[in-house]
Amino acid sequence: MRVIVVKDPKEMGKRAAQLIVEDMKAHATYVLGLATGSTPLPLYNELIRLHKEEGLDFSTVITFNLDEYVGLAPDHPESYHYFMWENLFKHININPKLTHVPEGNIPYQTPEDIKKIQEVCDQYEQMIDDVGGIDYQVLGIGSNGHIGFNEPGSSLGSLTRIKTLSENTRKDNARFFDGNMDLVPQYAITMGIGTILKARKVVLLANGEGKAQAIKDALEGQVTAMCPASALQMHRYATFVIDEAAASKLTLETYEHG
Ligand code: GLP
Repeated sequence: MRVIVVKDPKEMGKRAAQLIVEDMKAHATYVLGLATGSTPLPLYNELIRLHKEEGLDFSTVITFNLDEYVGLAPDHPESYHYFMWENLFKHININPKLTHVPEGNIPYQTPEDIKKIQEVCDQYEQMIDDVGGIDYQVLGIGSNGHIGFNEPGSSLGSLTRIKTLSENTRKDNARFFDGNMDLVPQYAITMGIGTILKARKVVLLANGEGKAQAIKDALEGQVTAMCPASALQMHRYATFVIDEAAASKLTLETYEHG
């Protein structure tokens, strides 16, 4: 695994953009897996800058987002549909028809609803396979080691499905919902860990001390469902781009700096 330690979130965004853009330029068509949360914002800002200042072309890029809350309309300010549009898509020349975010705005109560949601999840997984798979998957990490919304205990072979959010994650994400945990949805649709492992390349971003333990567990701990990000130890081409604070609990001396 490749670990690149940089000084701050801005550098993290630049370094991750470099990795992705280099790979993007080497392919005629490109499938990008995208993440939400505060961590990928410096990366998205850099991609926007590269588009505006250097003409980086997104017109044929296909995107698939990792996850979406269940029960939020796409125009809800905290839905991931809205997040992607506001923070990346509206600033670049992407074709909206080539962007995909799981459809979470469907009822989840009756057995028929549950069946319908699983169908939506299976279709999402199929759509990814149909375009030939994801070339580069961007990931953040939860303070409990989750990736996408694959909470601790998730099967390391899981595919796209509905997950119940842990109390830890709902507490962490309450900051986006007026600090009120009760407003954070209880369920989400997420690519599985198996889906993420199918991507050709993966880059995980993390900044801040709050992520230091999760990063330590993911990189230097055992591969375990209790730290879903540790599954990336099984990936052939996984890179972690993390700032010094997120790297502060790591012990190996062989990581790249800068
Ligand atoms: C959410 C997302 C994850 C993200 C995590 C961390 O739970 N589903 O994909 O990695 O939040 O968010 P942040 O980057 O804001 O710390």
